[in-house]
Amino acid sequence: MSAFSEVNYVDLPAVFALSARHDADPHPEKVKLTVGAYRNEAGKPWVLPVVKKAESMLAADETLNKEYLSMGGLQSFTDAATRLVLGENSRLVNEDRAVALQTLSGTGALHVAFQFISQFYPGCKDILVSNPSWGNHKLMIDRLPGVNFVQYAYYDPETMGFDLEGMCRDLEAAQDGSVVVLHACAHNPTGIDPTMEQWLKIAEVCKKKSHFPLFDLAYLGYASGSFDQDAASIRLFADLGFEFIVCQSFAKIMGLYCERIGCMIFAGQTAEISHKCLSQMKIIVRSIYSNPPAHGARIASMCLNNRDMRAEWEDCVKEMHARIRRSRSYLHTALKTANAPGSWDHILAQNGMFSYTGLTKAQCELLIEKHHVYLLKSGRISMCGITQENAKYVANAIHDAILNAKEN
Ligand SMILES: Cc1ncc(COP(=O)(O)O)c(C=O)c1O
Repeated sequence: MSAFSEVNYVDLPAVFALSARHDADPHPEKVKLTVGAYRNEAGKPWVLPVVKKAESMLAADETLNKEYLSMGGLQSFTDAATRLVLGENSRLVNEDRAVALQTLSGTGALHVAFQFISQFYPGCKDILVSNPSWGNHKLMIDRLPGVNFVQYAYYDPETMGFDLEGMCRDLEAAQDGSVVVLHACAHNPTGIDPTMEQWLKIAEVCKKKSHFPLFDLAYLGYASGSFDQDAASIRLFADLGFEFIVCQSFAKIMGLYCERIGCMIFAGQTAEISHKCLSQMKIIVRSIYSNPPAHGARIASMCLNNRDMRAEWEDCVKEMHARIRRSRSYLHTALKTANAPGSWDHILAQNGMFSYTGLTKAQCELLIEKHHVYLLKSGRISMCGITQENAKYVANAIHDAILNAKEN
């Protein structure tokens, strides 16, 4: 008799299940719009040339070994990652109030951050997350003892835009001192970010309510092509004197998905507070995986710190950003040419890796079953999956889905 006979299968998150279905589908025109990973103009994954260069330099470096990193990871990486987010002349950095930890990509950063908050943030009860948001936020928060996953308004289906009023209303109504998860830029899944004036309003409500901001930063550079512009939301909160956390991923921005390289930044009121908190975060790391892997951190450190490689990397990010903007206009033009009902201007207005198309669940199901176009049933598509070649096929399929899907 097994002690585990009562354990049931649990469904994989939809994004993985649909990707697996796509991969097994023999249809010659199938299209994958599910996965949040960059694809080049040919629809293929892209290893950044500067990353390949860093890897060959690392392979040739006889001084390197495979000894453990410290619990906090590679400091040349975490220092540079912090400056990338907070700016080269950051007051928080100069005053030693911004401390950082290398993490297992963005997910690992969020996990350590949530663990830390649930243990050390006084009266931590509600963690507020945008509606909708990246699905893993709920998965992680639901597992924290005594903490509630609470949603705030973000997307307005009527305007297919940002619901500032709804968001501020929900932040006002929340318990004082709640934790608020904010997508710093290139919001997943909607592709809609607040303007700087709107960020200021959000910050004012957070200040009034003593909320604690936790920034999820998986797409720095993807919204505008500029690191500084995309980090402006975080820097605004820094300038307004908040304590905050940033959970940063290098998966998308360096194409280092499987290397699991990320960084968690904590900004406290004093250097002493920040360093005490960092020590507790290191103990959390120790209890989960002891210390992070070195390979991705060494690559990222070279791309961040070596002047020429940094310039090459920035060009790669600009290219990824430009390529996604092109894929938005391919799809927009193809939908217009197909006469698909609707304005579709929101596809151009949104930014980052994703578009929230506004398609219904029934329309998405028809796209998958009849046309082999795989997308999340929320209507989210990864713009990277659209190429000049498949845009017409996808647009015609969407047109057909709008005309023929049977709404329940
Ligand atoms: C909003 C958001 N946060 C965090 C992540 C974490 O990604 P990773 O763990 O691959 O760095 C993702 C990845 O899709 C994301 O979309």
